[in-house]
Amino acid sequence: MTLHKTFFRQSLSNEKKRVLLGITGGIAAYKVAELAHTLSQGVVTVQTVMTQAACQFITPLTFQSLTGNPVHTDLWESSASNFMAHINLSREVDVIMIAPASADFIAKLAHGIADDLLSTLCLARNCPLLIAPAMNRQMWENPATQRNLAILRNDGIRMIGPVSGIQACGEVGMGRMVEPAELAEAITVFWQNRCLLINKKIMITAGPTFEAIDPVRGLTNKSSGKMGYAIAQAAVEAGASVTLVSGPTGLAMPAVDKFVAVISANEMLAAVQHEIPSVDIFISVAAVSDYRVAAMNAQKIKRNNHNLTLELTLNPDILMTVATAPNPPFCVGFAAETENLLENAQAKRIKKKLPLMVANWAHNAIGSDENELILLDDTGEHVLPRAPKIEQARHLIEHISTFFKQ
Ligand code: C5P
Repeated sequence: MTLHKTFFRQSLSNEKKRVLLGITGGIAAYKVAELAHTLSQGVVTVQTVMTQAACQFITPLTFQSLTGNPVHTDLWESSASNFMAHINLSREVDVIMIAPASADFIAKLAHGIADDLLSTLCLARNCPLLIAPAMNRQMWENPATQRNLAILRNDGIRMIGPVSGIQACGEVGMGRMVEPAELAEAITVFWQNRCLLINKKIMITAGPTFEAIDPVRGLTNKSSGKMGYAIAQAAVEAGASVTLVSGPTGLAMPAVDKFVAVISANEMLAAVQHEIPSVDIFISVAAVSDYRVAAMNAQKIKRNNHNLTLELTLNPDILMTVATAPNPPFCVGFAAETENLLENAQAKRIKKKLPLMVANWAHNAIGSDENELILLDDTGEHVLPRAPKIEQARHLIEHISTFFKQ
């Protein structure tokens, strides 16, 4: 395949971008020379870091000649005056791409191992990381590799490929590195997507709510918060300013502009209303309890020898409150259904006056790392087939951004 040089040059802004190309030990390393060449031809400065194993497949001299920059291989290289090549390099670039990313290197990334220059600078990085895995199909399918990949996805590391086909060892299957032209394109798309929602303020609600019955018990649901947190991450990646209002989850706080922890639906409504006038996009992913107990018991309810009846009172519908107020932000709802998915989701979209409703089956959505989504808007249905939630989140953000195109 020929490289899309013209496309690549045109699609990046004139501002010079800096890519760190990390090369690990795999036969696909030879193809990365073409990628280094293409990137260097455009408005990109390329720094190359190679592992010892990569140097067995292709020489540093090749990359030095193609990029016009010295190639780094040694954590202890003395040319860096402060002996901190790993910090210097990771601070001097806008994005790191590892191609090919071997099974061994993926394992190191997943577990934070830093025993050479490339793995150390990846651990020390403050910029996004893209990886292009390449390995034998059996190594790819090994549960250890799959576990490591799941960790990387959750850490927000983007994967490009691999693809299926004939392998260097003669076997056929999944594990071939994506071709250099597509890797160059992936970097372009990555940069374009980083500007999708620039200057937009987004508020996202996530997780369950908890409605206290007494000081130790409550009404809640099985929502994990994973989808909402993934959308928050994707929105940050797209350049938005993000406020995440979260019910109680077991998840680590993501790197958003503002994080507000709430417990009950009423608290969530108050947190939302506090900021909503300045918000451009409101994405309501939280599984808000529709009811709360009419009167919380001040003391722990004691067991008696008879049944107990709790009186429940209706909670506010946060999304509907926001979406039906004057001058609402662009509102997105999530409908998790156990039956009649599309009919129910569409009815909720109309009732809550939403330009966009995301429909998903409750059994697919709740608690899992993957999901299938159907986006419902005025133009019809858009299916996002089953994929990790972070990938779904990025597609959803892309779809939302189309509503803001001039
Ligand atoms: O629970 P339901 O299926 O109606 O949820 C649809 C949408 O409404 C979701 O986006 C959810 O976050 C929102 N919702 C809400 N307040 C409620 C119930 C649901 O904001 N009390």
